[in-house]
Amino acid sequence: MRLVLWLWFLLFSTLVWSSWSLSSDGAALLALSKSLILPRSLRSNWSASDATPCTWNGVGCNGRNRVISLDLSSSQVSGSIGPDIGRLKYLQVLILSTNNISGLIPLELGNCNMLEQLDLSQNLLSGNIPASMGNLKKLSLLSLYSNSLNGTIPEELFKNQFLEEVYLHDNQLSGSIPFAVGEMTSLKSLWLHENLLSGVLPSSIGKCTKLEELYLLYNQLSGSLPETLSEIKGLRVFDATRNSFTGEINFSFENCKLEIFILSFNYIKGEIPSWLVNCRSLQQLGFVNNSLSGKIPTSIGLLTNLTYLLLSQNSLSGPIPPEIGKCRSLTWLELDSNQLEGTIPKELANLWNLTRLFLFKNKLEGSIPPNICSGKKLQYLNLGSNHLNASIPRDLVSDCQSLVRLNLRDNNLSGSIM
Ligand SMILES: *[C@@H]1O[C@H](CO)[C@@H](O)[C@H](O)[C@H]1NC(C)=O
Ligand SMILES: *[C@@H]1O[C@H](CO)[C@@H](O)[C@H](O)[C@H]1NC(C)=O
Ligand SMILES: *[C@@H]1O[C@H](CO)[C@@H](O)[C@H](O)[C@H]1NC(C)=O
Ligand SMILES: *[C@@H]1O[C@H](CO)[C@@H](O)[C@H](O)[C@H]1NC(C)=O
Ligand SMILES: *[C@@H]1O[C@H](CO)[C@@H](O)[C@H](O)[C@H]1NC(C)=O
Ligand SMILES: *[C@@H]1O[C@H](CO)[C@@H](O)[C@H](O)[C@H]1NC(C)=O
Ligand SMILES: *[C@@H]1O[C@H](CO)[C@@H](O)[C@H](O)[C@H]1NC(C)=O
Ligand SMILES: *[C@@H]1O[C@H](CO)[C@@H](O)[C@H](O)[C@H]1NC(C)=O
Ligand SMILES: *[C@@H]1O[C@H](CO)[C@@H](O)[C@H](O)[C@H]1NC(C)=O
Repeated sequence: MRLVLWLWFLLFSTLVWSSWSLSSDGAALLALSKSLILPRSLRSNWSASDATPCTWNGVGCNGRNRVISLDLSSSQVSGSIGPDIGRLKYLQVLILSTNNISGLIPLELGNCNMLEQLDLSQNLLSGNIPASMGNLKKLSLLSLYSNSLNGTIPEELFKNQFLEEVYLHDNQLSGSIPFAVGEMTSLKSLWLHENLLSGVLPSSIGKCTKLEELYLLYNQLSGSLPETLSEIKGLRVFDATRNSFTGEINFSFENCKLEIFILSFNYIKGEIPSWLVNCRSLQQLGFVNNSLSGKIPTSIGLLTNLTYLLLSQNSLSGPIPPEIGKCRSLTWLELDSNQLEGTIPKELANLWNLTRLFLFKNKLEGSIPPNICSGKKLQYLNLGSNHLNASIPRDLVSDCQSLVRLNLRDNNLSGSIM
């Protein structure tokens, strides 16, 4: 009898105790903190004797004391993310960015299917992006940039109509861009630069009609750029520098919103697209080292917000249009290493904000326009390897106080520069 009573007491006290002990979400967090190493100042506050983890550093709960957010960004967290993360079923926001977290992304993260914002950027994570992350159908932000992730981007990851921002840049991701990219119909920003991605830019990208920023630079993408890009009417930024894209530019924008359009260091052929004249917001146009031919259109003068016009290392011919002098915001004008002929338009002296003027390796003749330094900002002036054949403006050097480098070699100029 005594024994039975004793047992009853034991059972009763266990029940009471358990109702006071830490919630399951709290227990999951404590288990998580065995592999994820928080600095003492943060961890001190994660106490097993609390009923809920809702006041712990970095933790946020809903009205029913379920953990819905964990934000430990820039907190000198190290260690790795253990499988216990998958026990936080109500998690909507997980931000562990800018720490020293290493190891793999656990498969179990795919169990947190209420997640809307996931930011693990700027850590030391390695291995693959688990395909189970394709279960996170409510994600609107996916940020894994600046880690050491490798392997391919799982097709499932992009089958998501809520994703608005995808930042996977600065990793070692290989393979191709999933065709499912077109299923991200809410997508605004897709940053995939500085990886090892190969293959084509899928034509399905045209279904991402809300896309505003597409960064593909420094990959190994090839093939022609899909005509379906024309469907992305609000595209502001398209930067595909240093890939192996070929062919002509077959897409076009009538009501163009482009601010940055850069395809430098590819194998693009054909003429400078005539529709660029519609892109009045354009600030940066870069086509360095491609195979562009034909003339520079005079309509370039309508792009008055241009600050960078970089068309070096192509096969452009004909004259430099004097209309360039209307692009008053220009700071860098680089047209070197083409087959441009005629004279250097005196209108270039209207470009008061110019700091760099590269016209070398062309077939330009005649004189250097006087007042080329009227803006007092020109630092790099390279007119070398042309057929310039007049006398050097007398006040060139005294006018050009800001010059850091001047190259006039390999011309037929006369006079002195002092
Ligand atoms: C933990 O620290 C935070 C911030 O310093 C504080 O707001 C919170 O009340 C603390 N929680 C506990 C359980 O001490
Ligand atoms: C990562 O660890 C290194 C060395 O321990 C430290 O210097 C650095 O500040 C840490 N970085 C972050 C983001 O915590
Ligand atoms: C990814 O990196 C790991 C080392 O972190 C390596 O063992 C594995 O072979 C790599 N996988 C791929 C596909 O490159
Ligand atoms: C560009 O479009 C033209 C006509 O629409 C087509 O004949 C050509 O094959 C296309 N080129 C590329 C590279 O897509
Ligand atoms: C040109 O730039 C100015 C100043 O940044 C801006 O207010 C204006 O809207 C731009 N023009 C176009 C057509 O985008
Ligand atoms: C383009 O770049 C490659 C590699 O840097 C170089 O060999 C080639 O001469 C460049 N093309 C032109 C037209 O300058
Ligand atoms: C020239 O540069 C100055 C200073 O950066 C800037 O305020 C001004 O708007 C620029 N002028 C043009 C025409 O863009
Ligand atoms: C420069 O060359 C052009 C074309 O060859 C010629 O018409 C012109 O007279 C030359 N000017 C001078 C100053 O030698
Ligand atoms: C330089 O100009 C002189 C005189 O005008 C001319 O005789 C000579 O052929 C020119 N040299 C070159 C390389 O164009």
